[in-house]
Amino acid sequence: MTAKIAVLAGDGIGPEIIAAALGVLDCLQRDFGLSVELEHADIGGAGYDQYGQPLPEETLQICQQADAILFGAIGGPKYDTLERDLRPEKGLLRLRSALSLFSNLRPAILYPQLAAASSLKPELVAGLDLMIVRELTGGIYFGEPRGIRQLENGERQGFNTLVYAEHEIERIARSAFDIARLRSRRLCSVDKANVLEVSELWREVVERVGKDYDDVELSHLYVDNASMQLVRAPKQFDVIVTSNLFGDILSDTAAMLTGSIGMLPSASLDIDARGMYEPVHGSAPDIAGQNIANPLATILSLAMLLRYSLQQGELAQRIETAVGAVLDQGLRTVDIAAGAESIGTRQMGDAVVAAIRADAS
Ligand code: IPM
Ligand code: MG
Repeated sequence: MTAKIAVLAGDGIGPEIIAAALGVLDCLQRDFGLSVELEHADIGGAGYDQYGQPLPEETLQICQQADAILFGAIGGPKYDTLERDLRPEKGLLRLRSALSLFSNLRPAILYPQLAAASSLKPELVAGLDLMIVRELTGGIYFGEPRGIRQLENGERQGFNTLVYAEHEIERIARSAFDIARLRSRRLCSVDKANVLEVSELWREVVERVGKDYDDVELSHLYVDNASMQLVRAPKQFDVIVTSNLFGDILSDTAAMLTGSIGMLPSASLDIDARGMYEPVHGSAPDIAGQNIANPLATILSLAMLLRYSLQQGELAQRIETAVGAVLDQGLRTVDIAAGAESIGTRQMGDAVVAAIRADAS
């Protein structure tokens, strides 16, 4: 069966890194019997420019009909002054919500070849491989009521609402326990149960779900402590599950532990593992169009897409092995070159394709 992939390149470096990933996909189609159909659509600033909307109706439809979405990046200074509803970020948030992509997997893996890039001492991060499972369609990001209102004294007050219903906590907990089972069977749930009622319920529900997974060791941390532990001794963690806002923050910290945010992929899945796959980094408008962006996070996102949504784990592994091989060859884009010689976006993409072919021959 031919799988349908929606391709949303977006803004900034988005089109360049997506082009590199499509080069890899093309190779898998040509040489490894993969059969996919691509549909390109506009999102973010590109959506606004074409249709006046960060998530055009047409794009949403294409995504709804796809088996998986490959996403580049969105945003740029040009759009920062638009009203909030028209900003590129809204396109991404609406897409997550419209497709119920509630489970956001953000691995933080330190490639041994890049150990020197971390801001932590190599012995603290060598071999780091942790997975943050972030709830993505609830919590304070989407809670109502929200807004900025005028108080009686004329002063303005901003307000947002942090809410989680039991079913939302339960499904993200199950998603995280399932992933923990595929790894080292340790799960740490992060909350703020010493202060927030929402977190109290979160902890209770996670505990309850945990009874169905007695082979997984469950622990809990408050988010302030978790952020400290992440930079103190990150290797104590395997899988972390947390709410939308805490996950947003902790996943940036975890990404930086690897020293190379340009290397990190992510997946956002619905209950049937249909998903959207995107690099963790942003649109980097300052380097857009210069052929210097690192395409590896997007290429590794493609690997996740193959593994989680297309059940092509073997092809995913080929991509991941090839990325290791190009790093072994000493090939680096400027963000991971530590001042040494670097190659461009296209060259890096081509090198991965060459490594996939070399490995198979
Ligand atoms: C992320 C980003 C988004 C978020 C922004 C762009 C809306 O920071 O994916 O982590 O806050 O979720
Ligand atoms: Mg973020």
